Amino acid sequence: MDIDGLKRQAAARALDHVRDGMKLGLGTGSTAKHFVELLGEKVRGGWKVVGVPTSEATRAQAEREGVPLTTLDEIDRLDLTIDGADEINPQLDLIKGGGGALLREKIVAAASDRMIVIADDSKWVGCLGAFPLPVEVIPFGLAATQRAMGDAFARSGVSGQMVLRKTADGHVFVTDGGHWIVDVRLGEIQDAPRLAGLLSAIPGVVEHGLFIGLAKTAILAGAQGIRVIERP
Ligand code: A5P
Repeated sequence: MDIDGLKRQAAARALDHVRDGMKLGLGTGSTAKHFVELLGEKVRGGWKVVGVPTSEATRAQAEREGVPLTTLDEIDRLDLTIDGADEINPQLDLIKGGGGALLREKIVAAASDRMIVIADDSKWVGCLGAFPLPVEVIPFGLAATQRAMGDAFARSGVSGQMVLRKTADGHVFVTDGGHWIVDVRLGEIQDAPRLAGLLSAIPGVVEHGLFIGLAKTAILAGAQGIRVIERP
């Protein structure tokens, strides 16, 4: 089976955890897209769920699928968020934001009683960091923010070139929140919680792609079948 087929399998398994009437966080990316599509089928079959999308792309897809949407201003908590990831380690800490939606993804995950991460098993790693870490930044004072990020990396024992994300046609990539993203390939992040804390303390950093302690369950689809892993 190809990678996209595996992503769909993981998304389909995640649907087993969804109940009629739930308030759901809807993730972003090619794996989460399968989930929203499958959820749309359930809604058309009569389910009364409501979703909070983590990006404008997911909002548009959910609307097309007929999934009713709400906001975190209208409801207090979500029962469950289903989202993809760029890397998942054995503690179920994640790197996210390859699709640029990390800020809303983290707000939604943090407002959820449970987060299930769905992926093909190529996302499973022993140590986070081979995938470039996305850091969402305010355009103002970018050089100062990058210097502070460099300090945070040094204090965490990692380093890497900071690359301002661009679109395919060469323009600066702008997030749904109007910010920019700096991607940094750090190699092996031995102490991801420490780095997460240091990055969060930098004034020009809006959010970073380290999701620490948020995912409770990972559903990984691979050639040998599906593995369901709970956070230790
Ligand atoms: C979006 O910003 C990301 O966090 C995605 O969840 C992540 O990049 C995984 O995307 P895919 O499911 O497309 O691999």
